[in-house]
Amino acid sequence: MGNPLIVTIDGPAGVGKSTMAKRLARLLSIPYLDTGAMFRSVAWKLGKGAWEWPEARLEEALADFEYALSGVGEDSVLSLNGTPIGDEIRTEEVGMWASNVATLPVIRTFLKHAQQALGAKYSLVAEGRDMGTVIFPDAPHKFFLDASVDERARRRFLQLREMDKPADLGALKEQIAKRDDQDRNRAVAPLKAASDAAVIDTTDMDRDQVLAALKEAVA
Ligand code: DC
Repeated sequence: MGNPLIVTIDGPAGVGKSTMAKRLARLLSIPYLDTGAMFRSVAWKLGKGAWEWPEARLEEALADFEYALSGVGEDSVLSLNGTPIGDEIRTEEVGMWASNVATLPVIRTFLKHAQQALGAKYSLVAEGRDMGTVIFPDAPHKFFLDASVDERARRRFLQLREMDKPADLGALKEQIAKRDDQDRNRAVAPLKAASDAAVIDTTDMDRDQVLAALKEAVA
């Protein structure tokens, strides 16, 4: 086997990174890595307010965290300590907790190692906020997906409804804007496009059009 192939997809909350990453990974017959799920699972496991813990306590807690990845495309399964990460992390509240823990260098450093270890082992479509800038700067294919806040809130609304979770469009818009602001303006690994990433504004594109653009670039 040659070196693993890494494709990175970064972008703000609700832009559709996971959907695109899954579908592109399926086309390439490789796993996709949802790094937002890693931050969400840390936040979920440690619980509300963990972002205010002293660094030593966080380090001690993280020593028990082990991630594993299996499967391909939309069947990729990310597990934490042997248990697949489920839909319990998929609320906007846990998204905000994840954004809070994601400001802390101790958490970012820990997950950076976990993400790079997976990328050394497997070819990946890796999606998140800093895949192209920090985690896989040498990836041969990098994308940054963007869309207006209104459109992203609408997409998240539909996604939550599909999962039978409560959703309020106005509240979602506010939460997404707040989370964006924190993700873009944090000191460590802020959300931004890598200088060599293809930036795609998906506001007026449907999923098939975005996938076609990614596919063409990777081919
Ligand atoms: O993609 P998501 O909504 O599941 O991500 C949840 C939060 O995790 C996001 O608001 C910021 C953080 N995150 C990050 O800082 N870096 C990543 N690579 C992925 C997510």
